[in-house]
Amino acid sequence: MSSFHLTRTLPEDATEAALRADVLHGLTCSPTTLPPKWFYDAHGSMLFDKITELPEYYPTRAEREILAAQAPEIARATGARTLVELGSGSSEKTRLLLDALPGLHTYLPVDVSESALTQAGHFLISERPDLNIHALLADFTAPLHLPHTPGPRLVAFLGGTIGNLLPAERTAFLTSVRAWLEPSDALLLGTDLVKDESVLVAAYDDAAGVTAEFNKNVLTVVNRELGAHFDPDAFTHIALWDAEHEWIEMRLRSRTEQTVKTPALDLAVDFTEGEELRTEISAKFHEDGVRSELAAAGFDLMRWFTSPGELYGLALAAPSRSAPALRPAADRITACVR
Ligand code: AVJ
Repeated sequence: MSSFHLTRTLPEDATEAALRADVLHGLTCSPTTLPPKWFYDAHGSMLFDKITELPEYYPTRAEREILAAQAPEIARATGARTLVELGSGSSEKTRLLLDALPGLHTYLPVDVSESALTQAGHFLISERPDLNIHALLADFTAPLHLPHTPGPRLVAFLGGTIGNLLPAERTAFLTSVRAWLEPSDALLLGTDLVKDESVLVAAYDDAAGVTAEFNKNVLTVVNRELGAHFDPDAFTHIALWDAEHEWIEMRLRSRTEQTVKTPALDLAVDFTEGEELRTEISAKFHEDGVRSELAAAGFDLMRWFTSPGELYGLALAAPSRSAPALRPAADRITACVR
């Protein structure tokens, strides 16, 4: 008999408190920033689903192709009895993994969205009556304890979302994932790859304007949740490739000189005409970089799968036997940049 169990590790008001802190920090720094996790209210999640179907946005399709081809190999290599999925969202691609893992005992999705967790959970219960579903309402970028479930465990972090973190944040995050794992556990990490600039930029600046709407949605979220007075139409969507850091940056450029007030935060932010607010970085990778970032966090890259045309990479990693490398002091998180 299957079961669905939800554990809340977030206090009821955690989301609002975190948003307030992020907005206060991001809008008082120069340049101004807002972290990408606030894109995903119900409307933003719907827009993201639309993005994944755009002709220009290849990562979702490329990752799905790899999973469809390699899920049996991943299942064989890991023998997973628990699948942990970080940032599970709608769990749609997960089904390819679940279907390939006949010995699976527990599916453990971790997400900050309670509606995403319950929807996915109830759908899976009808499909996989043998499975225990233990959903964890949690922010996986904060310290987190995984409930005790049968091993080997496979931790999946898909979609290329690791690219939303800065290099030092990625190391910190991977190191904390490593600390959860036993020697027989594994990590499955999805990474978008460096490619032609025009392909990358088009994926974040589509012809239909869906990504522009998605980008501006963060302003609507801040308006609704904190009573800010952003006019989304007073900003233009920008996507650019930073060749030095090898990441895409999304920004919102102020069309005019304006002051945006957020009375609840006692905040008034001045924007000059053309001033840009950074809303997302989406880093792109090479196999070597993925290998060395994993190694720095105490993982060995066991298998490296790529999609046709090398658009996207999926790394299967295991805890390394040697001690993790020490983090270089120069690798600090840059102030005000998230
Ligand atoms: C879901 C975070 C991986 O960075 O490509 C899509 C989000 N932003 N279009 C990405 C996103 C703009 C996406 N991730």
